[in-house]
Amino acid sequence: MTTRHADVAREMARLATEIERHNYLYYVKDDPVVPDAEYDRLLRELEKLEKAHPELAADDSPTRRVGARADEGFREVTHEIPMLSLANAFDPEEVAEFDERIRRRLECEVVEYVAEPKLDGLAVSLLYENGRLVRGATRGDGRAGEDVTANVRVIRSIPLKLRGEKLPTRLEVRGEVLMTRKGFERLNRRQDENDGKRYANPRNAAAGSLRQLDPAITAQRPLEFYAYGTGVFDGVKWPETHAGVLELLGEFGLRTNPHREVVEGLDGLLRAWESLNARRDELPYEIDGVVYKVNDLALQERLGFVSRAPRWALAHKFAAQEELTRVRAIEVQVGRTGAITPVARLEPVFVGGVTVSNATLHNYDEIKRLDVRVGDSVIVRRAGDVIPEVVSVLHERRPKNSREWNFPEKCPVCGSDIVFDEGGVIARCSGGLFCDAQVKETIKHFASRRAMDIEGLGSKLVEQMVDAGVIKTVADIFELDKETLVSLERLGEKSADNLLAAIDAARKTTLPRFLFALGIPQIGETTAGQLASYFGHLDAIMSAGEEALQEVPDIGPVVAHNVVEFFAQDHNREVIDALVDKAKIAWPAVQRVADDARLKGKTFVLTGSLSGMSRTEAREKLVALGAKVSSSVSGKTDYVVAGADPGSKLDKAERLGVAVIDEDALMEMLQ
Ligand code: IVH
Repeated sequence: MTTRHADVAREMARLATEIERHNYLYYVKDDPVVPDAEYDRLLRELEKLEKAHPELAADDSPTRRVGARADEGFREVTHEIPMLSLANAFDPEEVAEFDERIRRRLECEVVEYVAEPKLDGLAVSLLYENGRLVRGATRGDGRAGEDVTANVRVIRSIPLKLRGEKLPTRLEVRGEVLMTRKGFERLNRRQDENDGKRYANPRNAAAGSLRQLDPAITAQRPLEFYAYGTGVFDGVKWPETHAGVLELLGEFGLRTNPHREVVEGLDGLLRAWESLNARRDELPYEIDGVVYKVNDLALQERLGFVSRAPRWALAHKFAAQEELTRVRAIEVQVGRTGAITPVARLEPVFVGGVTVSNATLHNYDEIKRLDVRVGDSVIVRRAGDVIPEVVSVLHERRPKNSREWNFPEKCPVCGSDIVFDEGGVIARCSGGLFCDAQVKETIKHFASRRAMDIEGLGSKLVEQMVDAGVIKTVADIFELDKETLVSLERLGEKSADNLLAAIDAARKTTLPRFLFALGIPQIGETTAGQLASYFGHLDAIMSAGEEALQEVPDIGPVVAHNVVEFFAQDHNREVIDALVDKAKIAWPAVQRVADDARLKGKTFVLTGSLSGMSRTEAREKLVALGAKVSSSVSGKTDYVVAGADPGSKLDKAERLGVAVIDEDALMEMLQ
């Protein structure tokens, strides 16, 4: 090798190490130190050198994550140590029995466990020899799986080389490949655009993406990896506990799950389960339970296995988020702005922790895509606060006499024509405020907690009052008297008094709340706050043109058009006049945000509950000082305000190095 050659080789090795370091910081640590452009530049530079000197290019160069396709299908890999499954528990009694069994066998009082999320993806095994990734395999049936080496290599959170000085000669890392919820939604959107296959849930999407014969396709899928254990290992002193193993895997540059916890005894297990169950929906990926593992590896060894599962571990499941049920009927619902949503009326089923008997079918396109009919067996899904939805139809179970469902031509509530938007996807009732359904939804929204906050004026009562003809517009609420109220069924004297007091209290509000309460299409709380602080006065907003409105941060042409359109309607102006002049709804003057506002340009994220004020109040105050309040933490976030019981936003802030402040510090800023 000439000197020049040796220099090039050294430079290539340096670039490769540098790129892998950035991969590690970005994908494993979530803590990138260089902008993407710089990373791309390093990668291109290495590619250029490899092209000029192909003989020097390393087989495991970071430019070669994507390898050749497996035309013949995947090779079989026999696991040296079988990949076992886990015994399941569905309630605390079963967990108690697990802990009891272990204590009996070990003859001890209290056992130390690690509790970690049960990630909902697929298990893989990664074999490292002298620190280099040499093989990736799926779990398969536990005895033998498929060789997916080329595919695991494209997953950026899987290091091609382990970090550190003292590495095992052989190390088999086991863990889960998964897809985040966001990645899953993005993938399905892309699949729709390209007429590709839609995946039913993130787990199927992860499995389908990993098992692509062409690793170039896998490379485009947002897959992630978390290590949770090991198989074979040789050549280094091994830790004594499972927690120690996870720690060590982290030092080797593997990504481990941060939401793990070392706990003691049954109480510790159940507390960890409660805590993860409560935070389940805040995690960016799906988990379907908590895995408990005896921490001490020597004790694990003593406990051994029964059939195909270790005695030292247990999966304590959460309530299932998908269940099978049947469609009784398909009906349509009319929303506040007349949008018509088809819904499936279902045989009640327990899913995601509640009994579900309605699921959204979104729109006509979705019904056609699913090809759902009355009588069909369907899978419904309810994840977190998300509205339950029908994810798929079991067509082979369809009853013989079923018929295709047709979209109604008339609004089922007011009989007006249903019209479709230009795209032909969104259907709307053309009845406007002639349609009782729209009137009811408008009033419910107006009275809701985050809008005018009229306590006691809930859905049922609004429907009753509109049906009885007692109120027709939101302004009528302020004309209500006790006599009218007690004449309504189910409303006693006491409740009537309370309601009147609540209505009276609602006359004092804030401009952002009032704007939000009007229910202008696409004006949420944040935009309402921005409109208020930009214009300062209701009159100014009502008379602003589309161009002026687009000066407001985050308002684009569509929203600006909606605002102008809303205030152009006579009946909307009449209602607003009645609310302001007759009902005497008032708010403190709004300080327009000056260009030198103290928090101008700063982005805040609120998490956890505050003791001195609600999050809505905190948001209003921040916006009034020129700040932006966002719902998710990113590199652009300036401050995360952590109240009591903060969620995963706090973890994310810490990972990204975003400043975290407490309620006291927030108060100081607001002073
Ligand atoms: S440990 C012997 N830990 O659950 C223990 N498994 O039924 C083997 N899983 O196929 C597994 N998260 O894919 C373990 N933190 C975790 C896990 C986990 C998810 C999956 C794994 C396996 C299945 C076991």
